[in-house]
Amino acid sequence: MKAVILVGGQGTRLRPLTINTPKAMVPVLNRPFLEHVIDNLSRHKAREITLAISHLAQPIKDYFGDGSRFGVKLNYALEKAPLGTAGAVKNSERHLDEIFLALNGDIFTDLDITAMMDLHRRRNAKITIALTPVDNPTIYGLIETNAQGRVMRFLEKPSWSQVTTNMINAGTYLLEPDVMAYIPFQTKFSFEHELFPLLLERDVPIYAYPSSAYWLDIGTPEKYFRLNKDLLSGRGGQYGLSSGQEVVVGEKSHIHSTAQITGPVVIDNNCTIGERVRLTGPVVIGHGSVILDDSVITESIIWQAVNIGNRVKIKDSIITNDCHLGDGSIVEEAVLGDHVTVASGYKLKAGSKIWPGTTVG
Ligand code: GDD
Ligand code: MG
Repeated sequence: MKAVILVGGQGTRLRPLTINTPKAMVPVLNRPFLEHVIDNLSRHKAREITLAISHLAQPIKDYFGDGSRFGVKLNYALEKAPLGTAGAVKNSERHLDEIFLALNGDIFTDLDITAMMDLHRRRNAKITIALTPVDNPTIYGLIETNAQGRVMRFLEKPSWSQVTTNMINAGTYLLEPDVMAYIPFQTKFSFEHELFPLLLERDVPIYAYPSSAYWLDIGTPEKYFRLNKDLLSGRGGQYGLSSGQEVVVGEKSHIHSTAQITGPVVIDNNCTIGERVRLTGPVVIGHGSVILDDSVITESIIWQAVNIGNRVKIKDSIITNDCHLGDGSIVEEAVLGDHVTVASGYKLKAGSKIWPGTTVG
């Protein structure tokens, strides 16, 4: 099976995480988000995957290359300007000649694609859309179905008065290639506002595949945080850690014998954890980060090459690449962009989101 992943969004709501890092490259358990998505596809026998990109393409290409390292063949379909979700798939058409999967690239799920394909075939559908239940459908695409599971209505970002179900578009579609004829070439066109309403009007058979599999979109720092915690705590379906208490330490990382580590904690390669440091999970520490003596880190995500001084306190925070936290500084409920410096002894205001390159205190 072939697949196309939409990785062209700007990740605006995930800022400051996505100012220098494309949303697809944001690390989850120390691997780019997109690597987890590709893993799930490859597990379901998708061997040729096209990445539809319009923005910050180079870091993605540099990391994933031709895909051989990940057991798949990767193609890239670049848009000069964003073409919208369906327009981006149309732009990938040369790589898609048989039934294929299209996926929003910001969703983490262990959806059973094989079972979805079975349903698609049984129903003789032109499109099958995966559905997932959510508490707040107004920030998603609401989908109404009939008793046979045929899609009757698609309402993107409905108001509460329009909400008739908690089932929403999970951002995974199976499409027959003849559907492409409905998408204009090199024109901004979306599945949500244009293609689905058009096909419903034309009576083209679209079916739903409702699923209770793990599902989360990493639309905001809060959801990104929740995804990491879920995976570390064993709530991510077949992904992440299993027991919820595990401590995983990478190669060439040095942890002082007096450090106290309470899982779930994942420490990548080449890290240094000093004397009497306390790590209380869920915690992730990225490649090459250094934590000096007596620092206390609780429920936080630290990216790569972060320097944390002595007696620093970090709680409920996301600290991205190359940040420097001076001795005795306190960071709680904060999100720090790349290369942020927090001065020694400074207590950051809770809830702060600090833009890359800033020095505070
Ligand atoms: N290549 C490309 N070009 N990709 C794009 C473009 C584009 O012009 N626009 C958006 N994308 C990608 C984004 O990177 C993301 O992976 C995906 O398409 C969906 O776009 P979002 O901007 O994240 O949409 P959303 O989260 O508001 O809503 C969508 O996802 C929901 C599920 O999370 C819709 O599909 C909803 O119906 C759905 O419920
Ligand atoms: Mg999204």
